[in-house]
Amino acid sequence: MSGEMAGFVKKGDPSGAPQTRDHEYFPIIQGTKFISQFYRLFKGTTLYDRNNKTIDLMARECLQVVNPYVVSENHLNLKIVRENFFFNSIRIPVQADKYALFKNFSQEMTKRWIGELEFTAELEPKTLKEFVFLLSGLEENNESNYLYIQQQLESQGIQSIRVGKTEFFQEKNLMPNHQDQTQPAKAVYFRSINLVKEVAEGIKTQKVINIRKAKHLMQDAVSSIIRDESSMLGLASIKNYDEYTFNHCVNVAIYAIALGQRIGIPKMILSHLGMAGLFHDIGKIKIPPEILNKKEKLLPEEWTVIRSHPVIGVEIIIQMKEWGELSTRMIGATFDHHLKYDLTGYPKLSRKRDLTLFGKVVALADFYDALVRPRVYRKFPYVSEKILGLMLEHAGKDFDPALVKVFINMIGIFPIGTMVLLNTNEMGIVLQTEEDPDLIDRPRVCLLQYSDGEYRKGKMVDLREMDDESRTFKRAIVKTLDPNEYNLNVAELLI
Ligand SMILES: [Fe+2]
Ligand SMILES: [Fe+2]
Repeated sequence: MSGEMAGFVKKGDPSGAPQTRDHEYFPIIQGTKFISQFYRLFKGTTLYDRNNKTIDLMARECLQVVNPYVVSENHLNLKIVRENFFFNSIRIPVQADKYALFKNFSQEMTKRWIGELEFTAELEPKTLKEFVFLLSGLEENNESNYLYIQQQLESQGIQSIRVGKTEFFQEKNLMPNHQDQTQPAKAVYFRSINLVKEVAEGIKTQKVINIRKAKHLMQDAVSSIIRDESSMLGLASIKNYDEYTFNHCVNVAIYAIALGQRIGIPKMILSHLGMAGLFHDIGKIKIPPEILNKKEKLLPEEWTVIRSHPVIGVEIIIQMKEWGELSTRMIGATFDHHLKYDLTGYPKLSRKRDLTLFGKVVALADFYDALVRPRVYRKFPYVSEKILGLMLEHAGKDFDPALVKVFINMIGIFPIGTMVLLNTNEMGIVLQTEEDPDLIDRPRVCLLQYSDGEYRKGKMVDLREMDDESRTFKRAIVKTLDPNEYNLNVAELLI
């Protein structure tokens, strides 16, 4: 038994738990319940045959935990790494009276080389029962068991269950560590970039595209943003010439999810919004790269080609059946993202109609990301203040004015990644913005130290900090600086 598992938590009646959702407490209780119920059902398969009433009852009881959890959190994931249980990435401390149960369960799973279970939609008792029989019937010591299960599930048309192979090393992002929350955000970010590449390649070569993977990733992105918005926004502010297209898609998804969260879109729909953001420009894959990347001014006929990307995008989405219930929302965002609030954009509509909410959100996210980052034909990005000013100017014409307000508030006047000069003559990079509108100009800043010919990360300061004697703020921002002038790669400092 590893030392981790020996750390018991005090026993308590789970039903006596507070109803309020403490973000750590809730998964621990639900996770413990799930592990217990699921293991009971698992053991049940060795005692009863599949038509036995007791097994039915056990499956139903287990689903009383699974289904509500999946509805509220989008997915239920259980990972077992060397006898440690992670329930939606939160480690479940083992209770004294559950010690044997946890240990047995983990041994049974490890024998079968299954280290992960995931449910992504509500299940019928019959489906769960079949799955558990499949699991318990696996042969021992077969490393590819997870592939067999996956295949069986697919052949039965079950998309809401996924299993993974046993891993013996803990991924960093499984350990909830408040000091290091950029880790999971970073992983989600870079995985998303690779995924967009894969999908773009897949469409070009007409291969089957793994939409489920994209959905999972966007669910992870939603959780990451809810947990720690600034890490994700920080990643989105990184500027990269080489991978502009892919970065752009992921950034739009991040800004869209973050904005969606602030206007109260439910979690489940937020991941759809992420998907819509990720693929809003999918039509561009059919546009010749010489036009897309042209540095000189575009000719009128080239503009016409560029402007066809929303319609081409919609065609691509319609052709792909894999999107499922998502496709209507995706079509909204893809078609509407250049239409503009007053419908003067493109494609031209034959009849006036309201923009879709997804279209409006993605349009803002798209505009901000397109201007904040360098493009082949524009060497330096606009500074954010200017873009936010442009957004305000265009509110009501290009953008929904209510959304513009929320967006500006979210980005802040000194967005993450902004290089600033302080009244103490120190220079720094904004790493975390301040929620309180009265303190919006007082973010947390990482000071820059100049040594050996380059700027390095120095200490972190909070601009809300006051001097005890004078009762004035210790530091204040004097102005923003252009990192290009200082040969500074902000991305390196942020990651
Ligand atoms: Fe676009
Ligand atoms: Fe775009």
